[in-house]
Parts: sequence; structure tokens; C-alpha cells
Amino acid sequence: MNNAVLIRQGIVVDHVKAQQADILVIDGKVADIAPEIHRVPSGCDVIEAAGLYVMPGGIDVHTHFNIDVGISRSCDDFYTGTRSAACGGTTTIVDHMGFGPKGCNLHHQLAVYKEYAKDKAVIDYSFHGVIQHINDEILAEMASMVEEEGITSFKLYLTYNYKLDDADVLKALTELNKVNALTTVHPENDAAIALRREQLLGQGKTAPKYHAESRPLACEAEAIARVINLASLADNAPLYIVHLSNGLGLDYVRLARQNHQPVWAETCPQYLVLCDACYEREDALKFILSPPLRPVEESRKLWQGIEDGSIDTIATDHCSFTYKVQKQQGKEDFSACPNGLPGVETRMPLLFSDGVMSGRISPSRFVELTSYMPAKLFGLYPQKGTLQVGADADLVMFDPKQQVTIKHDLLHDNTDYTPFEGKQVQGWPVMTISRGQVVACNGEFTGKAGNGRFIRRQPFHTHQLL
Ligand code: URP
Ligand code: ZN
Ligand code: ZN
Ligand code: ZN
Repeated sequence: MNNAVLIRQGIVVDHVKAQQADILVIDGKVADIAPEIHRVPSGCDVIEAAGLYVMPGGIDVHTHFNIDVGISRSCDDFYTGTRSAACGGTTTIVDHMGFGPKGCNLHHQLAVYKEYAKDKAVIDYSFHGVIQHINDEILAEMASMVEEEGITSFKLYLTYNYKLDDADVLKALTELNKVNALTTVHPENDAAIALRREQLLGQGKTAPKYHAESRPLACEAEAIARVINLASLADNAPLYIVHLSNGLGLDYVRLARQNHQPVWAETCPQYLVLCDACYEREDALKFILSPPLRPVEESRKLWQGIEDGSIDTIATDHCSFTYKVQKQQGKEDFSACPNGLPGVETRMPLLFSDGVMSGRISPSRFVELTSYMPAKLFGLYPQKGTLQVGADADLVMFDPKQQVTIKHDLLHDNTDYTPFEGKQVQGWPVMTISRGQVVACNGEFTGKAGNGRFIRRQPFHTHQLL
């Protein structure tokens, strides 16, 4: 297919070091990496990368493209969603298979999602299974999903209409542990939220800001502590907490780890660079997501977790609805607003700028959070998440000198706003390469719908992570 590309003299970063080097790509794979490479195939393309950071392409393990949330369907599909991802330096996404009708089984969900993505995805992809209910059939399907289909992680929700009760959570954790799958959890105490929501609406408190009041951080932290204990009851099942938004929840994760429990945590850029002051804005509907944005001191605690290693990954939870139409469903009643924010394109630049360029984290830690750990945890390593010889040539080049003011006009999704409008960043992804093909260059999308491939992932083994 593609021939050879030599990427010359970039600052090549992996999860442990950064060094000036050449990278030779042949047929979509990393063929060589060395201080200088002189022997290259004839006709080899050359990309000059001096002064640029050359890093493994981003892996975003938390997206919701084309998802039907009951009151709305998210407005990015696998074409616009992955196009946007590619332009932001991401080369692999792991989406969540949506919520089928009651009685829908896991294999059917997978067939539906493969069809959604097949002719649309511009970068490689996989899916998390979503356990929306528990019965003998679903439990029996889990092993073949892992072994035959390469679906090696599954999501449980403790809130929303498709929440599981504690007994079902325990059953799911136990079986998923047995079949070498990683369980990911959206932890919020649904009963407490439902009560608070009812009380607020009953008092006429319907404005968007009451969304945040209906789901305070104690609801999230309680559910984190509970699911950590349920995982311990499930023979110490490996557990991955998604979209962590607060310091107390992080402390529970830290405590579990001190007790040698296999628990990992993800946060998202919105919890790092935005705060609950957004709910005072006129366009507050733009910021309705769950868990909601928190007081600014929570962001500081999350940054601390990023710096000290207690947060493992940064993903986006990209779940986009248009502000002009879809988010307006919540205008008279916050509880009618579809939940979720766009962000798949801004993850890498926001973390590069506010993490690396601000001096909080090293370039290697950036790679660890955005690519290496996602690949390790979700069975993509060493095909993805690294630039070692033999890995897929998925990479991103960042120009640390470019200063950009984020505007929705610069982005490539299908929504009509970015929650990060006006935010200034230092450093920008100037080229994204997916299996040797340039899919984005200087703000232009250059990839092709259907070029992304479904990736069969490796089973989860705790000992490979610890
Ligand atoms: O509000 C959010 N986060 N929507 C997307 C679905 C989820 O909870 O991850
Ligand atoms: Zn179905
Ligand atoms: Zn969630
Ligand atoms: Zn999500």
C-alpha cells in the first residue's frame, strides 16, 4: 500500500524519554528509529521535523459517536468524529457501543457498531461493550466477545436509565474478571441524583446551573467508593474509573491502590481547564454533562493526580450535541438537556499546552497519559501507544512554537461550538499520521472515510500493568 516515509530529526518522545531521531516508516509500520537513518528505500518521502515533538498518535478511549441517548442522537458520527480526532492528533479511538433495545445482546450491538464505523472511520477504532442489563445470555456472551471478537473492555453505568443495580454490577465484575476483560464504570449515585433532581425541579429550579446541583461530587465519590469495594468482592476485579471529576473520588482510588487493588482512573480535559463557573454563563447549556463541571479547586486536585501518577489516562468523553438545537432541549428544564460535550479534537492540544508547555508534566508523561497507558490498559499495545520498531506508524507532530486561540471554526467536528472557545494554547498538532498515511496537516484534514480499521484488542491481564 503506502511506501516509505522518513521523518527527520524530530524530538521523538516515548513514555520514558525524548531524543532527537529519525523514524523510517515502511508500509504503515515503524521500520527503524535511530539518531540518523541514511539507508532508505528509493522514492522515500521525507518529512523534516526539526523542532517538532514526534509522538505516538493519541488514543482516546472514551468517545460516544452516533449514540442515541434516548432524548437525542449525538451529532458526530464515525466520519466527523474520527476526522475531528485525526485533526487533533488522535489516531485511535475506542467508542462505546450504544444502548440497544431491551433484550439486545452484545454480539448484536457489535454488529450494529461495526456497520456504523466501517465506511466512515478515518482512523483505527475499537469499541467497549456496554452492559445495559444482566441475564444469563449476556454473561455467557462475555467470554466469546473477549476471545473471538477482541472486545476486551466493558462499561457499566451506575446512573442513567441503563444503570445496573449493585447485584448486577457484582455479577458483571465477577464474570468480566474471569474472562480477562477490564470493567470500566461511570460512577454516580443515581438514587441520590434522582431525589435531588425531583426536589430542585419541584422548587422551580430548572435553569442549567441546577444540573450541577443535582449531581454534586459526593454522588460521584460515593459511587466510586462503592464500586471499588464491589470490585474487591468480585475476586479483585480490575476496575477503570471513567471521567473522574473530583479530588475525593481520586483519594478513594489512591486508597484502593495503596491496598494493592487493581484500579485505574481517567480524567478529561474539561475537568482540568473548565469549572462550574460555566454554569453562570448565558450559554450554560453548552456545559451540561455528567459528572458536571466542578469548583476550580477540584481541577487543582486532578492536576495533582496527573503529576503524582494517580491518574492514568486522559480521554475526552466526546458526546456532542449542537448548541443551537439539541442542547436547547434543556432550556426550560435542565433535566431535558442531552448530556455531553465535544472535545475529541482539543484533548491533545489542551494537555500539551496546560500540561507540557506550562511545565506541569514532561513530554513523556504526556505520551503516557494520552497514548501509552490507554494502549496498555485497553489491549492495543504494542501495536499502538509506542513508536518502537514493528508498531503501527501512528504518530502526531506537535509544534511547540505555535500559539493558537481555540475557536470552533478551526475544528472538524459536526457540532456548532467548542466548550473551549477563546482558550489560548501554546503548541499545536501540525501533522497526524495514521499507519503511515498523513491524515491531517496544518489544520487540513487529508484522510479518507473508510481507511480506519477495526482493531481486535488483547485480553486484559492485571500483571502486565503493575
Ligand atoms: O454527560 C456525559 N458524560 N455524556 C456522555 C455519556 C457518559 O456519561 O459518559
Ligand atoms: Zn440488538
Ligand atoms: Zn459517563
Ligand atoms: Zn462517556
